[in-house]
Amino acid sequence: MNLGFALGQMMAQASNTASWWKPMQASAHAGAVDSLFNFIMYLCFFFFVLIVGAMVYFVVKYRRKGDGPERTSPIKGNHRLEIIWSVIPTILLVVIFAWGFKDWLAIAVVPNNAMEVRVTGQKWNWTFTYPKEGIVSSDLVVPAGQPVKLVMTSSDVLHSFYIPDYRIKRDVVPGRYTVLWFEPSEPSTHRIYCTEYCGTSHSQMLSSVKVLDSAKYEEWIANGGEEGGASAVPLADKGKKLYEARGCVACHSVDGSPKVGPSWKGAFGTNRKFADGSSLSADENYIRQSILVPGAKVVAGYANVMPSYQGQLNDKQIESIIEYIKSLK
Ligand code: CUA
Repeated sequence: MNLGFALGQMMAQASNTASWWKPMQASAHAGAVDSLFNFIMYLCFFFFVLIVGAMVYFVVKYRRKGDGPERTSPIKGNHRLEIIWSVIPTILLVVIFAWGFKDWLAIAVVPNNAMEVRVTGQKWNWTFTYPKEGIVSSDLVVPAGQPVKLVMTSSDVLHSFYIPDYRIKRDVVPGRYTVLWFEPSEPSTHRIYCTEYCGTSHSQMLSSVKVLDSAKYEEWIANGGEEGGASAVPLADKGKKLYEARGCVACHSVDGSPKVGPSWKGAFGTNRKFADGSSLSADENYIRQSILVPGAKVVAGYANVMPSYQGQLNDKQIESIIEYIKSLK
């Protein structure tokens, strides 16, 4: 065990930058996960070289020479060899299991002082809700040095929440909650990915975790979740940000080209024709309804596939999106 730990520790140089083959280590879990990963990998290298080396050696040494009727002597077995190659791998497996179990416990057991954030996965964006403050955000904003507990669920299909820099990943499942936790070390920004194939725009189901120092975090909370004071930003600009951050971009273009859904360019004020034969001028109420109850009025020629954003976007955010659509002439 000691040899294993020493070897693992030696191989895992704690790094705050990404290497050519591994993302940076930005949480307490990251170093532990990498140590075990490295131990198993170098163990495999060692036995690969040993076994393939022996194989090549025997192939060359015992190859057939000439045309003679030579035969190798019959081998009946070798007890000592068999015990060695059973006992040593068994010991190594026990070491790997014990080591893995210890690290797994650290990742599975959430500390009592962790702050809680709700995570909702939805085709194709992430929503973070701060239950105490009532804040809804498209980025996961957390204070440095504070354990964070994520209570995650999906409102449609299977997703998987993954922050490579923290070495944490867990499935996000409709109809139940899964839990993850991490402790970010210092102010920084890291990518969040979905790693469960969940449909057309799975690869665009991205977000980020923004780690702020505690003063900046308090400021963010005080501003209702908008970093650095919200009031000066025009609504249309906020709407543009939401368009990109909340997954609208996956299905709606802003240049007039049709995607999964109709383009937003020039959409405001036009006469919309719906699948059921009715029509309507696209005004604020129509856009609001399309965001909250997308199936109510489906534009002719498009499928009824948009998920509802009820509870995912607050009134301010819906207004921002309306203003953004208005600005796209
Ligand atoms: Cu969500 Cu892939």
